[in-house]
Amino acid sequence: MKKIIIAIDGLSGCGKSTTAKSVAQALKYAYIDSGAMYRAVTLHFLNQHTNLRNIEQIRQSLERVNIDFHVNEADGTQRIFLNGQDVEDEIRGMEVTESVSEVSKIKEVRQALVAKQRRLGADKGVVMDGRDIGTVVFPHAELKVFMSAKLEVRAERRLNELKERGQSADLAQIRDNLAKRDHMDSTRAESPLVKAIDAVEIDTSDLRFEEQVTKILELAGQKMN
Ligand code: DC
Repeated sequence: MKKIIIAIDGLSGCGKSTTAKSVAQALKYAYIDSGAMYRAVTLHFLNQHTNLRNIEQIRQSLERVNIDFHVNEADGTQRIFLNGQDVEDEIRGMEVTESVSEVSKIKEVRQALVAKQRRLGADKGVVMDGRDIGTVVFPHAELKVFMSAKLEVRAERRLNELKERGQSADLAQIRDNLAKRDHMDSTRAESPLVKAIDAVEIDTSDLRFEEQVTKILELAGQKMN
């Protein structure tokens, strides 16, 4: 069976990461959460008090960013490290979430992260999720999926996810943040979130988690043979 690249793009909070992780696990593929990379850079900029309107400061700050994924071989879970520090929980908090769309608009940030994402996927056998994976990072990916879900459903899911992580959250605030990010991610000049013409669209509003995973695994099976 040939190794392929599976690109999963879509709106914020429609279950891309959990779905992509599960697909990767079933295929014994690597899973790369590209959103976590944008979140880690955002945290770095917040820590460094980088002025987002000062391109020189952004360039200097980017030179000092080192992002790694550490996989726990025992249970397959993965955590992201920023300059040697585990920041997996911190990057999911509201402070980073409120600023990440602003940071991911910046051309220099995107260039640096797209180059890293391409290196990570160079050997194929990878599932990567994000906003521009099927359009910009891997335009020749063998399988492209575009996931969507109603705003209300996405907000509820994100609330439960944060609760499970022991973080406090407010439904209205989450809904506003998701709507704002949808708008910013879809209308930005650099690599906006759009469905690739050859992507398969899956609306997960009324799908059970296992159903969306099975659907993608079926599509992957067709491409691998
Ligand atoms: O998938 P996520 O919600 O963790 O992503 C966080 C933000 O990062 C999202 O609002 C937009 C940005 N992002 C991006 O611009 N391009 C990607 N490939 C992945 C994420």
